[in-house]
Amino acid sequence: MNTPLTRVDRLATAIGLKRGQLWVKRDDLTGLTAGGNKARKLEYLVAEALEQRADVLVTTGAAQSNHVRATAAAARTVGLDCVAVLSTLGAQHEPEGNLVLDDLFDVSVVWTGPAEREQTLAETAAALAGAGRSPYAIPLGGTNALGARGYVHAAEEVAAVLPDAVVACAVGTGGTAAGLIVGLGDHDRVLGIDVAAVPGLDERIPDVIAGCAAAMELPAPRGDWHPDTRYSHIPYGQPFDAVADAIRITAKTTGLVLDPVYTGRAMAGLIERARAGELPDAPIVFLHSGGLPALFTARYRDWFSLPAAL
Ligand SMILES: Cc1ncc(COP(=O)(O)O)c(C=O)c1O
Repeated sequence: MNTPLTRVDRLATAIGLKRGQLWVKRDDLTGLTAGGNKARKLEYLVAEALEQRADVLVTTGAAQSNHVRATAAAARTVGLDCVAVLSTLGAQHEPEGNLVLDDLFDVSVVWTGPAEREQTLAETAAALAGAGRSPYAIPLGGTNALGARGYVHAAEEVAAVLPDAVVACAVGTGGTAAGLIVGLGDHDRVLGIDVAAVPGLDERIPDVIAGCAAAMELPAPRGDWHPDTRYSHIPYGQPFDAVADAIRITAKTTGLVLDPVYTGRAMAGLIERARAGELPDAPIVFLHSGGLPALFTARYRDWFSLPAAL
């Protein structure tokens, strides 16, 4: 998979960077319905599932999970079933955004609470095995040392064009940033903006990085795990002005649409850093990691001011 790397000069100058300094890595074009970063992880995870002769992929995420939707699309692409453990805070979920796509892929949904996701995933996989199925369980966000490999290759694609680039990306479960760090060989070359998806990344991600580098026989990257936590206090997915502004300025200057949960927040963080003069004097590659379906959910309705119909 080699996605386009697009130079975005109008966005660069609008946020105080130089012409030629800002690029977008178009991982919104990876496929699996609405694209996104999960396709690169699933390339490895689904290959292992097929090697193990699994007949059903089991995974977990929030109700509007892009990872679950991409896993369902991947399962159907190769002829497997998909069971999803989706977390809810109790509210009833409208059939909107990624849930519409999960339904089209005929995903069997098991609802649980956010704190019970991992346990319900293990129990669901065990119940499927007990019923004679061959489940392959994929962790939250597809984040483990195997899934992160996909982003080692994405980093190589970037470095082949822009050898000194710094890559900015959203950090959800952290696997994308982990793979990029391994691929670029230096924590300082990845500007990961935490979107408050899960706690405990500081404990888990260094192990994913070490495991991924060791499995690929690559050197341990220089430096330490230090995501940008400027928005970590704002609950996951909660709308706020800087994100709406980042999505609008990106759309208007590039024709690209970011999502409200991940890439919009990451772009908001990048814009803040650019305007504060905090970015290195190097090419900056913004990873567009997909996520568009969530924009079409009621949660973000107030961001839009369409004229009322007659
Ligand atoms: C659109 C989008 N971008 C970025 C991320 C973050 O990726 P990761 O979970 O690997 O940190 C996710 C998923 O969590 C996502 O769905």
